Amino acid sequence: MDVPKKHLIYLTGFMGSGKSTIAPILANTLGYAHVDVDEEIERLTGKQISDIFSELGEEYFREVEYTILRELSLKDGCVISLGGGTVTNEPNLQLVKSSGILIYLKVDSEQIIHRLKYKTDRPLLKSNSGIMLDEEELRSRIIILLEKRERFYSQADITVMSDDLRVGVTVDKIVDGLRKFDR
Ligand code: S3P
Repeated sequence: MDVPKKHLIYLTGFMGSGKSTIAPILANTLGYAHVDVDEEIERLTGKQISDIFSELGEEYFREVEYTILRELSLKDGCVISLGGGTVTNEPNLQLVKSSGILIYLKVDSEQIIHRLKYKTDRPLLKSNSGIMLDEEELRSRIIILLEKRERFYSQADITVMSDDLRVGVTVDKIVDGLRKFDR
């Protein structure tokens, strides 16, 4: 297929929206490389995300995330799966929007709860002492965070509803949306 005008494609969306699943398949479809911001953070620090949060704190995590994002924004021919919080501040959002096409994988909060309720690797969805939340606590945590973040996510160039988990359909919708960026 034709190569889009900007050669850098970012995937954003809440935790559990499918960014890390969709990104390599999208990259393969476009003939691009794929990089995952969280994986790069883990590689650079030699620590798992949940350990970075518990040992060094969220602020440190966000600093490393910004450093990695700046580096990745210089790439070409690449699909980058972001963390769910990466574009939820203005400097990061502007960096992403000025260097590539931002795609928002939008998923309904009930679907996110369903996908994440047994996952143990999301520090922001645990209590301060690191304990898993019960379903009601998880629901209200997700709803509050989503509400705060929607104004950033909604500035994406392309929004794709990806509730149904059919990966092929989601990838097709993205590729379709990218056509308007073709030369
Ligand atoms: C975060 C999402 C996570 C990871 C970290 C913080 C967030 O990535 O970057 O736990 O702020 O939403 P995923 O969206 O891939 O789960």
